[in-house]
Parts: sequence; C-alpha cells; structure tokens
Amino acid sequence: MRQKTLPLRCLGKRLLRLMAAAVLGWRLVSPASQAAGRVDFNRDILPILSDNCFHCHGPDEKARKGKFRLDTKEGAFRTKDGKTVIVPGKRNESELYRRITQTDPDEMMPPPESNRKLTPSQIELLSVWIDQGATWGQHWAFLPRKKTEPPPVKTSGWVRNGIDQFILARLEQENLQPSREADKARLIRRASLDITGLPPTMAESDAFAADATPEAFAKVVDRLLDSPRYGERMASDWLDLARYADTHGFQMDRYRPMWPPGSSALRLAHRRQRRRPRSGQAAAPDS
Ligand code: HEC
Repeated sequence: MRQKTLPLRCLGKRLLRLMAAAVLGWRLVSPASQAAGRVDFNRDILPILSDNCFHCHGPDEKARKGKFRLDTKEGAFRTKDGKTVIVPGKRNESELYRRITQTDPDEMMPPPESNRKLTPSQIELLSVWIDQGATWGQHWAFLPRKKTEPPPVKTSGWVRNGIDQFILARLEQENLQPSREADKARLIRRASLDITGLPPTMAESDAFAADATPEAFAKVVDRLLDSPRYGERMASDWLDLARYADTHGFQMDRYRPMWPPGSSALRLAHRRQRRRPRSGQAAAPDS
C-alpha cells in the first residue's frame, strides 16, 4: 500500500479510513440494489452460509447434521435421493432454495431450534445467486488480488485517483457533497493519529507546513509508516482481536497467560503490515 507515486489526496486519513469505508460501503448498499447487480460469492453468500449453516453443515464432522456439507463445492452441488442441493440457474429446482423458504418447522433451514433465521434479504441474495449461476469461489483471503475498475462518477474535476472515485461515487449515490480539503495542520494530525495513534510533534507539524513541495504529504506518510509506532498501532487491533489482556468477563476471573507487548507481536505486526495489503488480513486466531 505504500506507493510513493500516489498523489497527496489518497494518502493519510483518506487512504486508511475511506478505503475501508469504500469496502464497507458495499455492505450498506441496500440488498435490493445489491441483488439487482451481480451477487458475489465471497462478499454476499459465504458470510450468510458461514453464519447460519456451517455450524451444522461445515467442516466439523462431529457437529455435522444430515451427513451434509455446505462448505465444499462437492457438497453444495450434490444430488441425493433425486434432490440436488443447488441447481445453477434454477432456484425452483434447488433443494437449498426449497429449504430456506420452507415454513414447515421439520424442513426449514436453518431449523427453528438452532435460533438462527435468515432475513428476507439474505434469502433473496441466495436465490438471486442461484439464478445467476451459483458461481462458487474460494475464500477471498486465498485469492490473488486483482484490480477493480472504479465506478463511474458524474462530477468531473474532483477525482485525483481511483480511491477518490469510489468515494465520490458513493457520495453521489447519497446526494452528498465532498468536504473541503483539510488544511495542513489538520491533515498531518489526522495522518499521525491514524497511522501511529499519536499526534504529531510541533516540529513535525511546522516542517510539514513549511514544505511546499508536491510530495510533502507523501513524505509524512512514509515517515509515519516507517515508525515502530505504526507497528504498535496495528498490533493493538490484533491484540484486541486475540483478546490480549482481556479477562473472562466473569466475577470469577482466572489467570490468562499473556506475553509481553513491545516484543515479537509488535515486530511481526509491523513487518506483516508493511508487506501485505490492508484488505487481505484475516482476523487473529480466537485464542
Ligand atoms: C442446527 C443445525 C442445522 C443448521 C444450522 C442448518 N441445518 Fe440444514 N440440516 C440439518 C439437519 C439435521 C438436516 C437433515 C434432516 C433434514 O433433511 O431435514 C439438514 C438438511 C439440510 C439439507 C438437505 C440436504 C440433503 O441431504 O439434500 C439442506 C439443503 C440444508 N440442510 C440446508 C441448510 C442451509 C442452507 C442452512 C443455513 C441457511 C442450514 N441447512 C442450516 C440441520 C441444520
């Protein structure tokens, strides 16, 4: 993600936060408009199956119900006793569609006793996905990255790079105007807090204000990315996910072994964050 040639605008807060917003934006798009477009297995389907079905039809053999796996392509397209789970292009011939639209408690999926329930928009997504050919895919974390074409925008002159274009497209969809560009003092403060979790020093802020070259902001971002504080900032999210320094959350809190921060976890996080795309991170193990 560290590209020296990127123009000023896409770095700092924009890059770090709004890229996430652009990705999350997909989730905020109403299911109807999502369904109108191309349903994506990884983005739209896998999370639904994983949350609602894999508990009983997943990799855990002991927990598996009905000797049926839905986490593998073979399972999802299998035919048994004349019933095919998913018939690409044909929801009405797919056992899966029949099961998720059933009201008979003995047949409906997920079963009522599982305390899971698909929302109407999730059912719609699954159905449209089947109608569109039920393309199966691998988990995104195992796929090579590929470039996405930025969406078209109406306003000209504002966009300076691809990320801007994603943001502007979403703003236009909501009939919102882009904010004014931040002044330099704010910009360096935002970038510093986002990347390292710390405010800039007066000297850093003054140096940035005095630097009139076009690369001034890119230089600030590079300096921040090179700082060990960036590793700490990134590692703190990981440690939260791994419940570092967490407790059982009970009155009877027991000993939880932890490792000293500032050592290997931070170095590892720093190295990995520098080498990997931010979007390709899997959550830390649930330990
Ligand atoms: C609490 C456990 C549980 C959950 C969660 C669950 N199922 Fe099932 N499922 C079962 C059981 C038990 C059977 C076998 C009995 C039957 O066929 O009704 C089954 C059978 C099926 C079958 C028939 C498979 C075949 O043999 O052809 C399909 C299709 C199915 N489930 C889809 C789903 C889908 C889709 C979800 C998630 C939206 C889901 N199930 C969630 C327990 C579960």
